[in-house]
Amino acid sequence: MSKVDLSKYFKPNLKQARKRTGNTIEEVKFNLSDAYQKIGVNKTYMIHTYGCQGNEADTETMAGILELMGFSKAEDESKSDIIILNTCAIRENAENRIWGELGRLKAYKRQNPNLIIGLAGCMAQEENVIERVLKTYQHVDLVFGTHNIYKLPEYIETALFSKERVIEVYSQEGEIIENLPKVRNHHFKAWVNIMFGCDEFCTYCIVPYTRGKERSRSKDEIIEEVKQLVKENYKEITLLGQNVNAYGKDFVDSNYTFGDLLKDLNELGIERIRFTTSHPHDLDEKTMNAINDCEHVMPHFHLPVQSGSNAVLKKMNRHYTKESYLKVLDQLKKTVPGISVTTDIIVGFPGETEADFLETLDLVEKAQFEGAFTFVFSKREGTPAAVFTDDTPEKDKKERLYLLNDRINHGYLLGSQRFLNQTVKVLVDGTSKNNNEVLAGYSEHNKLVNFKGDPSLIGQIVNVKITVAKTWFLLGELV
Ligand code: 5AD
Ligand code: SF4
Repeated sequence: MSKVDLSKYFKPNLKQARKRTGNTIEEVKFNLSDAYQKIGVNKTYMIHTYGCQGNEADTETMAGILELMGFSKAEDESKSDIIILNTCAIRENAENRIWGELGRLKAYKRQNPNLIIGLAGCMAQEENVIERVLKTYQHVDLVFGTHNIYKLPEYIETALFSKERVIEVYSQEGEIIENLPKVRNHHFKAWVNIMFGCDEFCTYCIVPYTRGKERSRSKDEIIEEVKQLVKENYKEITLLGQNVNAYGKDFVDSNYTFGDLLKDLNELGIERIRFTTSHPHDLDEKTMNAINDCEHVMPHFHLPVQSGSNAVLKKMNRHYTKESYLKVLDQLKKTVPGISVTTDIIVGFPGETEADFLETLDLVEKAQFEGAFTFVFSKREGTPAAVFTDDTPEKDKKERLYLLNDRINHGYLLGSQRFLNQTVKVLVDGTSKNNNEVLAGYSEHNKLVNFKGDPSLIGQIVNVKITVAKTWFLLGELV
């Protein structure tokens, strides 16, 4: 096999990605130069998105750029001129799925040698991924990372016309790019990025390396975006960031933080404001008060705890204890009566003992979460925890996950039951997955509600009286 010359590509470096510079982040406006405007006419694209809402928002930007270049969305893969996988690196099984997908796409390349296959997102930020693509995934033509989406036009031009492989990934973030075009996936619900990156460095997590240092968008840009969404009749926005509670902490000349942003956005005429995700040690009183005072900020809080054991929390670098987490939670529940709280939990972190796990179960009991995303620890190369001694057998980790899910499901059910016989406000999303005579939507507390109604109600907020409370959903009648 011939050796690949790796030096000509612009590749990521995890060590360099870890470095945080003191540079102030500039803001730059995106502008598509004339040379790129017609490249996509009569050509089509398809983007497959994996992972978190941050990736969904990035896909909307990629689609926006491609459509500005004249491309239109393909009906299926076999008719597409470009297929991009926008990938997730958070756990190994997410990556394995994507390697499988890349293998599957090879058949389309054989049918159509001009097809451009692209890999984007968090996986592209990993050195070992790039090495593997270069050596064994020759049919991948284009690789770009999370920091250089705005350069898509020139990459596409090179891949299409010079027939060269384009592999360009920056290890570190550059400017915040504003004015990026978007093709939004929904007509009445929208993602709004308020910050990028993460500086927490939880020892298990790859995100601070793949998404770069924490940087907040200017409040004026966010407010402008939301005003525009109101004009376009959007009903709900979800503010996005890896740690929205740290919003504004990087501003050098102002004390404007997340609570202030919630208050300002509350005045703009958008019906519903949600946000995700949060870190407990940055959650402050100003934010809690803002949630209670602002009628458009929804009473649901996703507050990842990760573990109930102080020893494990310390090894995770989470900067809080079980007791201090419960204290913050108590303050949140007192400040915003009735708020629904969900969380993320990892079991089987390296060195987690049976006693540590029992602490997690105890915390779940005390916290009364109304839902959780639960995971078995996945070793991510380049993170500190990847080299921690991990001697818990896989079958014990699976058993812990099972026991934990059982407790969490009980919390889901209690969270549903408290709405029995009450009337809740539901933003109607569409018809139910299992029955197209039934409508489905989410309540203010983020509970899935199914009820009979006319599809003309889709996109509206309606009152529904809850008649049945199940673990995963509520049933009700339109009032
Ligand atoms: N293994 C398992 N779960 C992880 N998460 C992040 N990194 C890992 C990992 N290496 C989980 C955390 C986080 C959520 C988004 O994913 O619980 O809150
Ligand atoms: Fe990862 Fe921790 Fe940052 Fe969340 S707060 S993205 S878990 S490093």
